[in-house]
Amino acid sequence: MAKLEILTVPDPRLRQQCQRVEVVDDGIRQLMDDMLETMYAAPGIGLAAIQVGVAKQIVVIDLSKDDEARKPLFLVNPEVVWTSEEARVYEEGCLSVPEYYDEVERPERCRVRHLDRDGKVQELEADGLLSVCVQHEIDHLNGRLFIDHLSKLKRDRVVKKFSKQAKFSGKAPAAL
Ligand code: NI
Repeated sequence: MAKLEILTVPDPRLRQQCQRVEVVDDGIRQLMDDMLETMYAAPGIGLAAIQVGVAKQIVVIDLSKDDEARKPLFLVNPEVVWTSEEARVYEEGCLSVPEYYDEVERPERCRVRHLDRDGKVQELEADGLLSVCVQHEIDHLNGRLFIDHLSKLKRDRVVKKFSKQAKFSGKAPAAL
């Protein structure tokens, strides 16, 4: 397995629409394993392929606690087929928007159809943190970030902050 680089805002690749996976083959499984390693090292609980620069509809999630055995979930071509009427607010963060957290409202529960690691069709019924995570990651596949759910004022402020940082680190001379 290999650790990959995680893209951060304002990288335009994070705004891409991701393509469906035709066949879940060894190459896709290798990518998912690399994504998992990258996510565990970050550390994070969910990662979409576009966050490592691959515009494919692939998500990995693991909500297990540090002292538990790992329980990775592999979602290929995930599609939300149902959401609950009830919504809930949860404080979200994202590996592509480092060190920024804010409250986002989403449907409380959802059902998602997807392919698993073996390419078999599965349906996942999610509530609580898993529901938040699944919806957040599927947003990534459509070029959406959690900050898009915030007010324009807040979003602009966050993006501006990261744009300044990117500019600075790009142009900063080596220490003399
Ligand atoms: Ni994210």
